[in-house]
Amino acid sequence: MKQRIQQLQHDSLAALHHAASLKDLQAVRVQVLGKKGSLTDIMKGMRDLSAEDRPLVGSLVNVFKDTFEGVYASRLSFLEDQEISARLSREAIDVTLPGRRSVRGSLHPVTLVTDDIVDIFSRLGFSVEEGPEIEKDFYNFEALNIPKDHPARDMQDTFYINDDLVLRTHTSPVQIRTMLKQPPPIRIIAPGTVYRRDSDLTHSPMFHQIEGFLVDERVTFGDLKGILTHFLNEYFGAGLQVRFRPSFFPFTEPSAEVDIACVICGGSGCRVCGGTGWLEILGCGMIDPEVFTAVNYDAKKYSGFAFGMGLERIAMLKYGVSDLRLFFENDLRFLKQFS
Ligand code: DAH
Repeated sequence: MKQRIQQLQHDSLAALHHAASLKDLQAVRVQVLGKKGSLTDIMKGMRDLSAEDRPLVGSLVNVFKDTFEGVYASRLSFLEDQEISARLSREAIDVTLPGRRSVRGSLHPVTLVTDDIVDIFSRLGFSVEEGPEIEKDFYNFEALNIPKDHPARDMQDTFYINDDLVLRTHTSPVQIRTMLKQPPPIRIIAPGTVYRRDSDLTHSPMFHQIEGFLVDERVTFGDLKGILTHFLNEYFGAGLQVRFRPSFFPFTEPSAEVDIACVICGGSGCRVCGGTGWLEILGCGMIDPEVFTAVNYDAKKYSGFAFGMGLERIAMLKYGVSDLRLFFENDLRFLKQFS
C-alpha cells in the first residue's frame, strides 16, 4: 500500500510538471482525485487494512494530497500566466504600423462653382430656392413673357413631355414659382439642372444654371450693376474689368449681357475670347412689368432685377477646362483634380 502511494505520488507529480496546458493539467487532477481516480481507488482499499495500518496509510494519503494540491496550484498559476502572455502577444496591436488610407472622393467642379456662387450671394442676403426639372409651360414660358410663337419655344430647343409639360429650359421659372408664393421684398438665388435639345462641343442637352433675382420698392439698374460687379469681383478676383452690353430677354426690360475681361489673356485677345479680350458671362435685366402682372405683383409699386448664368461655362473659365464633355464623362483622372 505504502509503495503504491509512493509510486502514485512520483507519477502524478511528474504528470503535473509535464502538463503543457490548462486542459492537460485538469486531466491529471481528474485522473488522481476524480471519482474514478487513482487516489480515490487507494482510499477505497483502506477498508481492508488492519486497524494499526489504517492511520499510517491515512497520514501518507493526507501528505500526498497536500503535496499534490500544492504542486497543482503552482503549476496552474504558471500555466495561466503563460496563457495570458501568449494571448497578449497574439492580439498585440502594432501602433507603429501606418494606417490604411481611406479613399476620399471630391466634389464635382459644377458643384464647387454652385457652392461658391451661393456663398457669395448668401452674404448679400439672398436665400436659395429650387424648382422642378419637369416644368409647366406656364412657368417655363408663358409667365416669363415668352409667347407661344417665340423662337425659344421651338421644338428644336425644348424637350416637350406633352403640350403642357417640358423639361425646363432655364432656371427662370423659379422666379415665377417664388413670386407666386410670397410677397416682396425677396432676394433669391436658384441653382439647378436645365435641358435643351442641343449637343456639340460647347453644348450639352443637360447642363446647369443659376438664377438670381431681387424685388423690392425702388430697385434700380444701378443696384443690378452694383451687385453683379461685386459678385464677379468676389468670384474671379478683385479689380476684374466688367462691362454691361444692351441685349434682349422677354422677361427683362431693359436687358443686358455682362462680359468680363478674358480670364485667360487678361484682355489682350486670345483663342478663348475669340480675340476680343472679353468673355460673355451672364444675362440680366430689370424684371419686365409683364412678369409682375403674371404673378399679381403691383408693377407700379415694385421693381426688381434678375440674372441667369450657365455654370459649366463659369467652371470652364474658372478652372481652365477647354472641353465641356469632361464635366459629364466622370473620368476619375479629371475629377480627382478638384479634390
Ligand atoms: N434664362 C436665360 C437663359 O436661359 C438667362 C437669363 C437672362 C436669366 C436674363 C435672367 C435674365 O434672369 O434676367 O438664357
